[in-house]
Amino acid sequence: MTLDLDPGKAALGNPRLVQAIVQEMDGGAIPFERFMALALYHPEFGYYRKPGRIGAGGDFLTSPAIHPMFGWAIAGWCRQVWSDLGCPSPFTIIEPGAGEGRLATAILDWAEGRDDGFAGSLRYIAIEPNSPGNDPRIEWTARPPEPVGDGIVVSNEFFDALPVRVFDATERGPVEVAVRWDGERFVEARGPVTAIEGAPPAGRFEVNTGAYATMRSLCRMVGRGAVLTFDYGYEQEELWAPWRTTGTLLCFYRHTAHEDPYVHVGEQDITCHVNFSHLRAGADEEGFVAHGPVSQAGFLWALGLRQLVDAARSDMGEYFARRRAMEALTDSAGLGRVRVLAATRGIEGVPPGFGSGQ
Ligand SMILES: C[S@@+](CC[C@H](N)C(=O)[O-])C[C@H]1O[C@@H](n2cnc3c(N)ncnc32)[C@H](O)[C@@H]1O
Repeated sequence: MTLDLDPGKAALGNPRLVQAIVQEMDGGAIPFERFMALALYHPEFGYYRKPGRIGAGGDFLTSPAIHPMFGWAIAGWCRQVWSDLGCPSPFTIIEPGAGEGRLATAILDWAEGRDDGFAGSLRYIAIEPNSPGNDPRIEWTARPPEPVGDGIVVSNEFFDALPVRVFDATERGPVEVAVRWDGERFVEARGPVTAIEGAPPAGRFEVNTGAYATMRSLCRMVGRGAVLTFDYGYEQEELWAPWRTTGTLLCFYRHTAHEDPYVHVGEQDITCHVNFSHLRAGADEEGFVAHGPVSQAGFLWALGLRQLVDAARSDMGEYFARRRAMEALTDSAGLGRVRVLAATRGIEGVPPGFGSGQ
């Protein structure tokens, strides 16, 4: 005798999350943006509520998870900004979306190992509402902190983790994609025609409605200093180019990328490329000077990443670990494609890594 072994909602991911989303739908449809917000950030069952999502044992790798070298390079950049500002104390680094704190720890370690004056001036605030880390040198907060005087806001793959609205271009104009439950699985529904300036004439595209305002609020967190952003993304013309007909939404499950957000719900990352034109406009509006975006590869080469590899020659194990890390961080088919945008206020000239050729 065989049994009916259909796992029901568990076949689609975390069954409790699926149930919570179905309940919220209440027989109707919710915008894709809300579906993504629940899948990633539901207060109990959202993907990012659980630690261990990033890294070899998780679903995807980010630069801080590759090797502390990434953070060391950023620490050197921050120290240069601190020095350009006249070595103020306190000097605050604020990191939205800090995850479990790998980047923060690498930056603080570098400062302590390298320059007592810089380390002594540093205050590090990590904004992370979901499964934050526990490095005691870091001030962890779930909410944006009060603005500081001098400092840097640094983020890695923060904007590309914000929920997005999804649209399908039609002859009558863009229609928003919504999601409903058909009794067995999540399926897409279409909303009314909407007007969106500059929208692509065909195919699917996404709009990150929070990015511009979020950039503005990050800029307002520091009086003098910089907002340094690492993210996958393009300028609007490239992001919404007519040839790009399937958008940029991607899901990551156990180190495999695919395009179906309706499977592994609550057990996979969902991410979408960032519109750097919006981020630069937000920074401009706040009186910052935007530099870049440049590629992460170009940025790290310009800062001197290779020196960090060569410096480990006396320890072959570490030397090869750093070489592999350098290759991963600058891989033009992988993390090297991440773009880096710096927005500065109160600093003369072009910051390191943003000169011509990057
Ligand atoms: C792709 S992960 C990147 C984590 C880390 N920066 C790294 O590079 O490994 C995105 C992070 O942003 C966090 N996040 C999402 N929305 C946020 C918000 N509104 N404020 C602060 N953090 C947020 C998520 O919880 C998650 O830890």
